[in-house]
Amino acid sequence: MAERRPTWLITGASSGIGRALALEALNAGFKVLGATRSISQAETNCPEVSSRGGTWVELDPAQPHAYHQVVKVSQEQSVDVLVNNAGYAFIGSVEDASEEEFRAQMQVNFYGPLRTVRACLPAMRARGSGQIILISSGAGFTARPARGVYSASKFAIEAVHESLAQEVKSFGIKVLVVEPGAFRTPFASRIITPAHFSEGFSQIYEGTVVEQMITGHQTMKCLPDSVKGDPDKAARAIIHAAVGGHDYLRLPLGTDCVAALELKIGELQHDLGATRAIAGSTDAE
Ligand SMILES: NC(=O)c1ccc[n+]([C@@H]2O[C@H](COP(=O)([O-])OP(=O)(O)OC[C@H]3O[C@@H](n4cnc5c(N)ncnc54)[C@H](OP(=O)(O)O)[C@@H]3O)[C@@H](O)[C@H]2O)c1
Repeated sequence: MAERRPTWLITGASSGIGRALALEALNAGFKVLGATRSISQAETNCPEVSSRGGTWVELDPAQPHAYHQVVKVSQEQSVDVLVNNAGYAFIGSVEDASEEEFRAQMQVNFYGPLRTVRACLPAMRARGSGQIILISSGAGFTARPARGVYSASKFAIEAVHESLAQEVKSFGIKVLVVEPGAFRTPFASRIITPAHFSEGFSQIYEGTVVEQMITGHQTMKCLPDSVKGDPDKAARAIIHAAVGGHDYLRLPLGTDCVAALELKIGELQHDLGATRAIAGSTDAE
């Protein structure tokens, strides 16, 4: 009897890293379910997924009913690898962002992946195997100015995966958190800024780091060549890690992300050095 091909369910598969991953997974011989909010748009943007044997699944992980849809898919199709890739970035100061804008970001980048993970876990546990891959970001470990909203969503979902990795290890389920730096995808052109301010920032933040960050993102949009990350190479690195096995939780991608990680580790070490004595002085006698 022919061996069953492992099935990959990839959210946000019609574009960027998700699209690259869907195509690389098909090249590697896997069965691919490309989840997208609109199959007709996905077919127009990326006809290669279905022409190379992939199947589109219409799914918006940000909607609560996505949970039941994914439970059904995971039972009927036996999802071996779940990749939560769908996401967008809201860029704006903490003060300029509205509570609705915070909530919208969390719906997509936090509750979306949370829903699909919880929907896939029972079938993976029953089989005693499975892989859960989160496409997070460098913003998942460092929160730069104007990225408080985006980073809040990525930090929060990384925390869930860090905990999850330890909870499900004994069930044979592996967890991988991918942290890309800047990659050449339509991501920057889809950035959302505070709706209340036409420039993306209020007068209060004119001439501050917030303005610099928002203007920097406009440059990323206009000068995509300044972005170094290649989504096809990212996809190959992710598949290599998933297939070959990995003994790490976090996979940073891109030299910019490695530099950001080193900076963060240095900042943590600095703070620990400066506070170790204070911390040690608060234990009960
Ligand atoms: N490119 C970068 O520089 C970069 C850096 C760090 C992290 N990332 C992360 O990588 C992941 C993929 O991004 P990408 O670079 O490939 O960007 P992308 O080309 O914009 O693709 C992201 C996909 O996510 C889905 N999506 C976007 N907004 C959504 C919303 N409001 N509700 C539900 N789904 C939505 C869409 O898929 P459908 O239309 O098919 O539903 C979209 O095509 C994201 O999680 C992002 O945070 C990207």
